[in-house]
Amino acid sequence: MSPKTTILTYFVATVAILLASRNLIDIPNSSSLKYFVNLSDLNTSSSGKIGSICDDFPPGFPPPDTNTTSYLCVDPNGCCKFTLVQAAVDAVPTPSSKRTIIWINKGIYYHGSKQTKPNITFQGQGYEMTAISWNDTANSAHGTFYSGSVQVFADNFVAKNISFMNIRRPSCIFGLGFFGAQDTLHDDRGRHYFKDCYIQGSVDFIFGNGRSLYANCQLISMSSPVPLGTKSINGAVTAHGRASMDENTGYAFVNCFIGGTGRVWLGRAWRPFSRVVFASTTMTDIIAPEGWNDFNDPTRDQTIFYGEYNNSGAGANMSLRAPYVQKLNDTQASLFLNVSSIDGGDWLQSVIN
Ligand SMILES: *[C@@H]1O[C@H](CO)[C@@H](O)[C@H](O)[C@H]1NC(C)=O
Ligand SMILES: *[C@@H]1O[C@H](CO)[C@@H](O)[C@H](O)[C@H]1NC(C)=O
Ligand SMILES: *[C@@H]1O[C@H](CO)[C@@H](O)[C@H](O)[C@H]1NC(C)=O
Ligand SMILES: *[C@@H]1O[C@H](CO)[C@@H](O)[C@H](O)[C@H]1NC(C)=O
Ligand SMILES: *[C@@H]1O[C@H](CO)[C@@H](O)[C@H](O)[C@H]1NC(C)=O
Ligand SMILES: *[C@@H]1O[C@H](CO)[C@@H](O)[C@H](O)[C@H]1NC(C)=O
Ligand SMILES: *[C@@H]1O[C@H](CO)[C@@H](O)[C@H](O)[C@H]1NC(C)=O
Ligand SMILES: *[C@@H]1O[C@H](CO)[C@@H](O)[C@H](O)[C@H]1NC(C)=O
Ligand SMILES: *[C@@H]1O[C@H](CO)[C@@H](O)[C@H](O)[C@H]1NC(C)=O
Ligand SMILES: *[C@@H]1O[C@H](CO)[C@@H](O)[C@H](O)[C@H]1NC(C)=O
Ligand SMILES: *[C@@H]1O[C@H](CO)[C@@H](O)[C@H](O)[C@H]1NC(C)=O
Repeated sequence: MSPKTTILTYFVATVAILLASRNLIDIPNSSSLKYFVNLSDLNTSSSGKIGSICDDFPPGFPPPDTNTTSYLCVDPNGCCKFTLVQAAVDAVPTPSSKRTIIWINKGIYYHGSKQTKPNITFQGQGYEMTAISWNDTANSAHGTFYSGSVQVFADNFVAKNISFMNIRRPSCIFGLGFFGAQDTLHDDRGRHYFKDCYIQGSVDFIFGNGRSLYANCQLISMSSPVPLGTKSINGAVTAHGRASMDENTGYAFVNCFIGGTGRVWLGRAWRPFSRVVFASTTMTDIIAPEGWNDFNDPTRDQTIFYGEYNNSGAGANMSLRAPYVQKLNDTQASLFLNVSSIDGGDWLQSVIN
């Protein structure tokens, strides 16, 4: 990017936040994803009707606390108590038997959220409206190999109708073994549920050792386009880090969409017992024919669990898949197809509507 373009990008992004107008984020598909602020939209909204920036709350919001739920509200323009997602998270009492719904108004929240707490729901206003993004680099993340835009380390976490975006420019190619850390969602430790979410990243963009169900989510790769005729891989949708057979962790994706740019794996085995299933998911041809990667460690082929079930799209063709990949039958898949895959019964049922 030329300095001019960079400044323009910053300017547009800043103006976008200030305006808090309706269609800030132009997400629908990959072509306009790079900077996700569409100048035309912005222009339209700035000349169109905006009204008060604080008038877009639903009537009766926030609802009164109940025995089981309380609400915190985040708005980037200061229209309610918090302007930063992390500030709201910090205000959640622990321990608390109540679920705290953090209601996050339209806007792009550039500072991510580095910590979560148990029993929290992030409720966005639609994944095209509310986005949490991060522009950290691995080096700045206190020496950790990975740094996520949102780190989900806490139990019983739920996210709905929200985007998680890594807005760093993707690095080009990763090759053998390790490579520059790039990631969006550090989904680690505990049971998590993501519904109607949009997650954008490049290398290993959902990673960690969580036990999570992703339903109706869009997983969009920002990796650099791969020239026709080359076979290089430059990303992976997941890097699940299950380290032993005793851990009941894993990622399940149901009714999702995978698209974007680059050529990526569905997952690679960050740890030997990595476990990931994709079901009823549409995938474009960005998925490499072999589908998955064992982190270049063939001993992991015996212990990883990578399953596919009822997927569609050019990327779902399993004829050239790596030998350890399992095509699940109905019985096997049913274990992953509903909230039972994360012990939904005891806590999740109450938050699903
Ligand atoms: C992206 O959007 C364009 C124009 O809106 C459309 O033609 C194209 O099919 C879309 N691609 C995907 C993968 O949805
Ligand atoms: C921005 O939005 C306008 C109108 O909605 C559309 O015509 C244009 O293609 C979009 N630009 C990009 C880069 O997607
Ligand atoms: C913005 O809107 C004005 C008038 O409404 C128009 O003249 C101008 O060309 C627009 N700019 C862009 C970048 O669309
Ligand atoms: C909520 O708490 C109040 C007071 O502790 C109690 O009377 C009421 O029955 C509780 N409601 C529910 C739905 O549990
Ligand atoms: C989370 O909620 C459950 C019940 O829904 C409760 O047992 C647990 O103590 C809560 N955790 C914290 C840290 O408040
Ligand atoms: C997400 O937003 C859409 C549109 O506002 C709504 O129809 C849908 O029910 C929402 N889903 C969740 C899980 O909040
Ligand atoms: C992200 O951070 C890098 C390095 O600090 C900077 O060059 C880049 O412009 C930032 N991108 C955005 C979209 O803020
Ligand atoms: C298979 O996936 C399609 C969506 O692609 C869905 O409509 C259908 O219900 C799924 N079938 C089963 C058995 O899950
Ligand atoms: C799947 O891929 C194989 C090998 O590239 C090809 O021969 C076959 O036609 C594909 N099947 C479908 C349904 O596209
Ligand atoms: C599904 O696969 C499992 C494991 O391979 C097998 O034990 C079971 O009989 C299969 N069930 C059906 C209905 O095919
Ligand atoms: C969901 O899981 C429960 C418990 O394993 C099972 O009885 C039920 O059939 C599953 N539902 C679906 C739709 O697969």
